[in-house]
Amino acid sequence: MLESLEAIKGVGDQTASKLRRAGFTTVEAVAVTPLREIMFKTGLGYENLLKITQEARKLVRIDFTTAKELWERRKGMLRCSTGSKRLNELFGGGIETQAMTELIGEYGVGKTQLCLMLSVMAQLPRSQGGLEGSVIYVDTEGTFSPERVYSIASANGLDPEQALSNVILARVYSSDHQCLIIDHLFKKCPEENAKLVVVDSMISHFRGEYVGRESLAERQQLLNQNLHKLLRLAEAYNLAVVVTNQVQANPAQFYGGNPIRPAGGNIMAHACTHRVYIRRGRKGTRVAKVIDSPYLPEAEASFLITDKGIEDMTEAS
Ligand SMILES: Nc1ncnc2c1ncn2[C@@H]1O[C@H](COP(=O)(O)OP(=O)(O)OP(=O)(O)O)[C@@H](O)[C@H]1O
Ligand SMILES: [Mg+2]
Repeated sequence: MLESLEAIKGVGDQTASKLRRAGFTTVEAVAVTPLREIMFKTGLGYENLLKITQEARKLVRIDFTTAKELWERRKGMLRCSTGSKRLNELFGGGIETQAMTELIGEYGVGKTQLCLMLSVMAQLPRSQGGLEGSVIYVDTEGTFSPERVYSIASANGLDPEQALSNVILARVYSSDHQCLIIDHLFKKCPEENAKLVVVDSMISHFRGEYVGRESLAERQQLLNQNLHKLLRLAEAYNLAVVVTNQVQANPAQFYGGNPIRPAGGNIMAHACTHRVYIRRGRKGTRVAKVIDSPYLPEAEASFLITDKGIEDMTEAS
């Protein structure tokens, strides 16, 4: 599926190298990135790029499709096991590729734990619920734990050192840095055969840096751009994107409103394909609930965080 840039009609050596230098290394990246952004980053002219992007879209066939074609493409969708049968059922079989799944919840509820578990599971063969790919983990809070990946991998039948090598980490220090890294993913994902991209957490830097009402619009616009890039990435490379998000106090709850208010507002709500809210259950269990999805029913499933990662509850527990 991955063809070189020169396969695009009208792209010669020079244009190709300009595109590459700006980070657009695949036909997919050229096809799905907004023209203005490519123009800004490459310095190529508008008319020229208009033709190039149209030709690129023809190659990856993303302009007009019939519902049948979409159906065919969706059949290529893969699902990554969470390690818990109940959670997998909640997600219609596992975390989907070609989609963005958002894990929402309070601190310490297990969002990062689930991401670490998925980072191991994604490496497994398909027959074992994996995606047979590597993982790119964008860590904005410094909470990625290699020790945890090591023990989860050992417990799930993988060579732990190999499993660690298959997780490519990007420690991100600011929202600008995060934007750069997300741009870079269009190049990095095919290079590394990444089948799972984790962003933990999606908006902590944005929230920390853009404070006050006057900067809200700018923050939301940037966040929106980044979320849409991630979604395009998921579709272009048939990979799963998982992002985490915190909850914020919702004053409206005192007047009968919904007490769950994920950060990031409408932008976050609209960009993510499946939204999952995780809360603490009884006796140390966790409960995940699908709160917004185009086709998953609003249901709940309980799970446990253990030394092995994520597991189903047993009679004993
Ligand atoms: N080996 C383990 N066995 C059992 N439970 C564990 C283990 N390791 C971590 N946990 C549980 O996971 C919790 C931490 O969860 P996690 O770091 O995923 O939270 P989070 O939702 O990412 O929070 P934050 O919003 O602060 O990032 C711990 O409080 C603990 O209950
Ligand atoms: Mg966390």
